[in-house]
Amino acid sequence: MNYEEMIKLAESASKNAYVPYSKFPVGACVLTDDGNIFTGCNFENSSFGMTICAERNAIGSAIAAGERKVKAIAIFSPNMYNCTPCGACRQVISEFRSDSGVDIITKLEDGIKIYTLDELLPESFVL
Ligand code: THU
Repeated sequence: MNYEEMIKLAESASKNAYVPYSKFPVGACVLTDDGNIFTGCNFENSSFGMTICAERNAIGSAIAAGERKVKAIAIFSPNMYNCTPCGACRQVISEFRSDSGVDIITKLEDGIKIYTLDELLPESFVL
């Protein structure tokens, strides 16, 4: 699975987003060390703080399937190019980082952009 295909799966997942409050749909697609793919979308709540981002939803599905190592995660929003993960999601991605690091892929107007987790979360807290 290449990164462009992962962005397409993130785009499909974003169509299921439950976003009555922000109207900001997001989809995410995770690739694990085992080569498996998991997708997720954001879902909000009238108690706003309970909102779950697309990235954490996708990672949660990977965890529920027994996976522990995220190699790459693609993020897509129809509302924004270069939709990068929020701070909370960066920390969650860090918890399940592959030993080889994590690529974070976003959609640009023309093509995709690839970050490393180390770029987006430098000096991260790890126990
Ligand atoms: N959101 C995500 O799902 N992922 C991101 O990378 C950015 C923010 C969600 C949370 C909320 O439902 C909406 O987008 C607006 O913040």
